[in-house]
Amino acid sequence: MKLRSALLPTLILGLLATPFAAQAEGDWKKGRVYFRMVCTACHTEKAGGAIAPTTKTMAEWKAYIAADKHAKGKDSLKYYVSKKYRESIKATNKAAAKFIDDDEAALLEDITAFMIKGAKDGDSPAKCN
Ligand code: HEC
Repeated sequence: MKLRSALLPTLILGLLATPFAAQAEGDWKKGRVYFRMVCTACHTEKAGGAIAPTTKTMAEWKAYIAADKHAKGKDSLKYYVSKKYRESIKATNKAAAKFIDDDEAALLEDITAFMIKGAKDGDSPAKCN
């Protein structure tokens, strides 16, 4: 009896929270801006060209981002999302300046949301960087 009365409100709350949970997963639009203006800017210059989200599947992106080994393991992907990195390029990079106060983990989630959406098997594969 006690258990059942405790379960129902939990269920209702869970259902109500679902749309908010989806929103909390990351803002892909912001992720796209950061990816294009920060990540791609450097890839075009130093990695021999843009690296499109379609180069990996959704699962591969999740694994890649979780592993945090960027540029064949030479450095950390998180570093390029960090406030420290944004500070270092903000004078010449508008996206870094615009998102200067963003939380690192939240910004990484935004980028992840964009990579997953634009992945080879994502909702809207994004070939153009
Ligand atoms: C300052 C330059 C620079 C920035 C900024 C940068 N990258 Fe890279 N990235 C590189 C270089 C250089 C390579 C190629 C490394 C190689 O092939 O040896 C690379 C490679 C990659 C690769 C191919 C796989 C790998 O790791 O070798 C992915 C995916 C990638 N970057 C994602 C990102 C994302 C996402 C961001 C932004 C959060 C980012 N990069 C920011 C320079 C940069």
